[in-house]
Amino acid sequence: MPKLGVNIDHVATVRQARRTVEPDPVWAAALAELGGADGITVHLREDRRHIQDRDVRLLKETVQVKLNLEMSITEEIVDFALEILPEQCTLVPESREEITTEGGLDLLKNRDRVQKCVDRLLEAGIEVSLFIDPEIQQIAAADALNVHGVELHTGCYAEAKNVEDISRELERLLIAGDDALDRNLLLHMGHGLTYRNVEPVAEIPGVSELNIGHSIISRSMFIGIEQAVREMKALVSHTPDFSLE
Ligand code: PXP
Repeated sequence: MPKLGVNIDHVATVRQARRTVEPDPVWAAALAELGGADGITVHLREDRRHIQDRDVRLLKETVQVKLNLEMSITEEIVDFALEILPEQCTLVPESREEITTEGGLDLLKNRDRVQKCVDRLLEAGIEVSLFIDPEIQQIAAADALNVHGVELHTGCYAEAKNVEDISRELERLLIAGDDALDRNLLLHMGHGLTYRNVEPVAEIPGVSELNIGHSIISRSMFIGIEQAVREMKALVSHTPDFSLE
């Protein structure tokens, strides 16, 4: 059974919409742990559009499960990771124009840059995973970099619209996953997974970690919105059944 890494970036997205103090992703991490999260994942982007340095520092102090830092292959971010020392770093491609991570890292094009980052992180004792597309050449390239594991990009699977495309994309994940396991790489998967599409991926043999963010944060809004309105309504209408004191 895979472990669940909960990505809390989008709690910080809501906070950054107002540049205020709430909602605090550090609180979200604690609640995710209470809900059974096996890991907390955050992506410290170069443009700091959601998660901030302060968040990662506090999460390192407070998270009791695995802290997985998603990060680009830039010197500044690697320096920061080496200061924080999260249990795991997942290297991802990053461009400022994208809304979210668009594809996997191309290890054939970026081998030397990735190698440099990987070596520094491994030397510090951090577990390193590479976010790649489910392609055999990428897995072979990851293996050659001596990392602990790979996270296969499930975006194409998540976006597939009909039964044929869905089963073709699932098959790609299965084949690539088998190859990663044959090479003794840890097998993680993530991106675009939802309450509706996660089960077949969770059943892929050998997958040890799923990282899921947007769908969980989206659902949590709807699960909590009624109670939040009820409490504000009580304050507005001076009804005695709710008070912050
Ligand atoms: N894994 C990686 C490497 C990611 O970049 C992301 C998005 O930040 C996720 C998993 C989670 O994706 P989603 O938010 O679509 O669940």
